[in-house]
Amino acid sequence: MTRSRRPDTVLAHAGRHPRANHGMVNPPVYHSSTVLWPTVAAMDQAHASLESGVYSYGRVGSPTSEAFEEAVAALEGGHGAISVSSGLAAVNLALTALLKAGDHVLITDTAYGPTRRYADSVLARYGVEVEYYDPLAGEGIQELFRANTQLVYLESPGSLTFEVQDVPAITAAARTRGILSVLDNTWATPLFFDAFGHGVDVTVHAATKYMVGHSDAMMGVVGAREKRTWLKLKTHAVQAGHCAGPDDLYLAQRGLRTMGVRLQRHQENALKVARWLQARPEVAQVLYPALPGSPGHEMWAHHFTGASGLFSIVLQPASAGQVAAMLDGMELFQMGASWGGYESLILPTHPEKIRTATHWKAAGPGVRLHVGLEDPADLIADLEAGFDRLRAAA
Ligand SMILES: Cc1ncc(COP(=O)(O)O)c(C=O)c1O
Repeated sequence: MTRSRRPDTVLAHAGRHPRANHGMVNPPVYHSSTVLWPTVAAMDQAHASLESGVYSYGRVGSPTSEAFEEAVAALEGGHGAISVSSGLAAVNLALTALLKAGDHVLITDTAYGPTRRYADSVLARYGVEVEYYDPLAGEGIQELFRANTQLVYLESPGSLTFEVQDVPAITAAARTRGILSVLDNTWATPLFFDAFGHGVDVTVHAATKYMVGHSDAMMGVVGAREKRTWLKLKTHAVQAGHCAGPDDLYLAQRGLRTMGVRLQRHQENALKVARWLQARPEVAQVLYPALPGSPGHEMWAHHFTGASGLFSIVLQPASAGQVAAMLDGMELFQMGASWGGYESLILPTHPEKIRTATHWKAAGPGVRLHVGLEDPADLIADLEAGFDRLRAAA
């Protein structure tokens, strides 16, 4: 399945082969650790190969992992994908496979917190020089390139504050120096941002979010534009023991089938909620790139084909007690880590505590919302009651 088919068609068909499966629409779930070989020659061939359709051990790959990976690769238009146990494991795989001791890596200052912690603890411990850069650096990123810069890591829009990066400018600058680019494309998914078309070499996705889509499984996937990068990633994944469980892979693949319609609705609902928030006196700023007037809107309109349901607001100055009064009483927007499921979520944020390359200056406290598939009128009513509590707690 090539990218010449439109994305919704790819979502419905990629990674399944009914004719090879007794006519069943969906691929079976192979529960397997041991793979049996009929001959020593077949055993030797399986061990020597990383190609699809040749299996050596459950951890290395199965028809179930390949079905999901094939669908993701078709959607992204890349050479291949590698499934792992979580989004953070996907970040870990990409960074560890592509870096070595003595290398310098540039990571956006708005990267997901645990990505930073992985870089600062594990990568640094293994001798990689980690430096954070302004997400809005654009082609100016080249001023930070050193002789040993091996990789630029992007996440756009950024975690918590949703800065939209100039991905083509950054990846073009990197390419002229032979530097690889890796993008966390979880927010947009391949549906709303064509990473490889914008010059990215490797994508990471927390498939836990919109791909799984139902808050019931952890999953990560790494995509590679070129075969040689895929081979490097796959070889490292095999060496490091990265893999995902078959039932979770099945859920992720099933999630893909409806991801297009879910994302459309997330986007519609999020825009309605964001517009309402923009007009509220308690809100200083809405940080939703799809919303006209939001920071990064022009860049988003230029490079993206849609927006998901995750964004933040900056409140007018308010005490921690007021924010807690608002959030503690929410009925539909529940507090919990993650996002990308069908349900709405809300969290207080503290971007100023995480950044090191830039300073986060905002009028008041930050709140991140994931707008789910509920009726937006009910979501707005929930937020309105929250603002009543916020004011009452002043
Ligand atoms: C942008 C981003 N990348 C990666 C991850 C990690 O994904 P997981 O929770 O599946 O490990 C998250 C999780 O919230 C995320 O928000």
